[in-house]
Amino acid sequence: MCGIVGCILKDEKAAPVLLDCVKKLEYRGYDSIGIATSSSKINIKKEKGKISEAEKKVGLSDLPGNMGIAHVRWATHGIPTRKNAHPHTDCTEKIAVVHNGIIENYNELKHQLIEEGHIFKSDTDTEVIPHLIEKYMSNGMDLESSVRNSLDQIHGSYALAVISTDEPEKIVGVRKESPLIVGKGEGKYFLASDVPAILKHTDNVIYLEDGEMVILDKSGVTVKNMLGEIIEKEIHIIEWTPDMAEKGGFDHFMIKEIHEQPGAVRDTLLESQDIEKIVSEFGDIERICFVACGTSYHASLIGKYLFESLMGLPTDVILASEFKYSAKAMNDKTLVIFISQSGETADTLKALRMAKKTSETLVVVNVLGSTATREAKHVIYTRAGPEIGVAATKTYVSQLTCIYILAAHMSNRLDLVDDLHKVPQYMSDVLANEEHIHNIAKKYKDVPDFFFIGRGLSYPTALEGALKLKEITYIHGEGYAAGELKHGPLALIDDGVPVVAVVPPGNSHDKTLSNVEEVRARGAHVISVGSQDDEILKSESHDLMGMDGEIDEIMSPISYIVPLQLFAYYISVEKGIDPDKPKNLAKCVTVE
Ligand code: M6R
Repeated sequence: MCGIVGCILKDEKAAPVLLDCVKKLEYRGYDSIGIATSSSKINIKKEKGKISEAEKKVGLSDLPGNMGIAHVRWATHGIPTRKNAHPHTDCTEKIAVVHNGIIENYNELKHQLIEEGHIFKSDTDTEVIPHLIEKYMSNGMDLESSVRNSLDQIHGSYALAVISTDEPEKIVGVRKESPLIVGKGEGKYFLASDVPAILKHTDNVIYLEDGEMVILDKSGVTVKNMLGEIIEKEIHIIEWTPDMAEKGGFDHFMIKEIHEQPGAVRDTLLESQDIEKIVSEFGDIERICFVACGTSYHASLIGKYLFESLMGLPTDVILASEFKYSAKAMNDKTLVIFISQSGETADTLKALRMAKKTSETLVVVNVLGSTATREAKHVIYTRAGPEIGVAATKTYVSQLTCIYILAAHMSNRLDLVDDLHKVPQYMSDVLANEEHIHNIAKKYKDVPDFFFIGRGLSYPTALEGALKLKEITYIHGEGYAAGELKHGPLALIDDGVPVVAVVPPGNSHDKTLSNVEEVRARGAHVISVGSQDDEILKSESHDLMGMDGEIDEIMSPISYIVPLQLFAYYISVEKGIDPDKPKNLAKCVTVE
């Protein structure tokens, strides 16, 4: 969470470029925005709120100087206000810092610095950093060594960018457990939390590892370790184009990304051969354990149903934040599969570091070069392209595609890979009919509570549908295994309570239908997702989101999620909410 950028340009003013770059990181946090440039002094503009609002209020790009740093915040310490917005400065206002991460021992450091006479202006953990650097620089140390010495005292996670008027043509960046990449353009140099921020300026990227420091100046980029020794780093050429991170005529990134899903599944299918090779490298596996958070957790639940039903292989799914309580149950016969869109989720990375001590690890990830890809033994890439909307959509269906391919190769059911090729068309059919779902969304936009139900492979779909609704509409949506309702939640079903039922044709169909009848009998409004040819379901439903009747239950999760994504999206739009930037959330959660 939080996005940081830094740049050094030849003759151009830095502030407009920084502003443009940091806009591409707004998915990481939008509580406040701030920019600092260095000319003869540190010039700062910062404001609470989203970039567009702040820009109107304080005109962010109007700053002198051709180098600087910028930040978008997802608040951890200190409420979202102007005073807590980054960049933060020292007492002399000669040093400015932007930070993504958490300083765990900031209280202790702050008290110590206050006793030494430092004056703090914010409630953030970050502000201890410029004051520590100030302390070392005032003792005659240069910027680079001062940053290094300051970090020796800090416990926690960070990606930092630091500037100082005492060394006016330099930016020092450093990372530990928060992402930081470096961009090497023609006479212009960047650092950023993520690639889309700098793609317009360069596709030459260096991925920093934990404990690496980068020094940007007019002559180029130098990477060093924490002992100050120079390290040679590989330059990666990024294949994503700047257009891929633009809205391309759609109102929001989310709806663009929903529409990109057939292509994302098709592109991910190209990974089939690589996945087959990875499968051939697995050791002796007796148990699979998926580890993930949020939407990636729901993709993992589908994996459990597939692995258990196709291979009878015991499969567990553990929330990454809970993994440490199960870590002792892993051994060298367990394959631990991490699912993560970003590859930077702190909970997932912590679990990965624990699991690799005992077990074979595999990550399924969307972001090239992300931390998870460098920590796990095996890596599978989902080919969704950059996902900017905070709510995961196309990365989810790409994760599912990878999991299906993996299960197909591991169980020798290659017919499933053939069937996957039909899925993009099923999705396109739903998208062609999105106005129907928009109309259903209009009917239910003011309802306060929803239930989502499904059985077997449709249960994770119900959970994911409920999560999408919560995230972007702020409406309470609860996902349940359809058979579980009668064990308690049925007490909440009353006249007009909407129940979204996921009912594909197949094994679970009749039993789910019985559960639909149970809620109808208690007055529920049933919105179902099922075959457009299913006359019984139609008669039991107030509204039907119809799917192609050919879709088998086993293939249903990848396309059946599309109407539920659209449903949440259109309710969000009807309520006047920005679905790309829901309140309190950020795309990539780099704190535990
Ligand atoms: O990048 P990851 O897949 O590891 O992220 C995990 C969750 O934070 C993420 O899926 C989150 O739940 C999304 N907002 C879902 O839309």
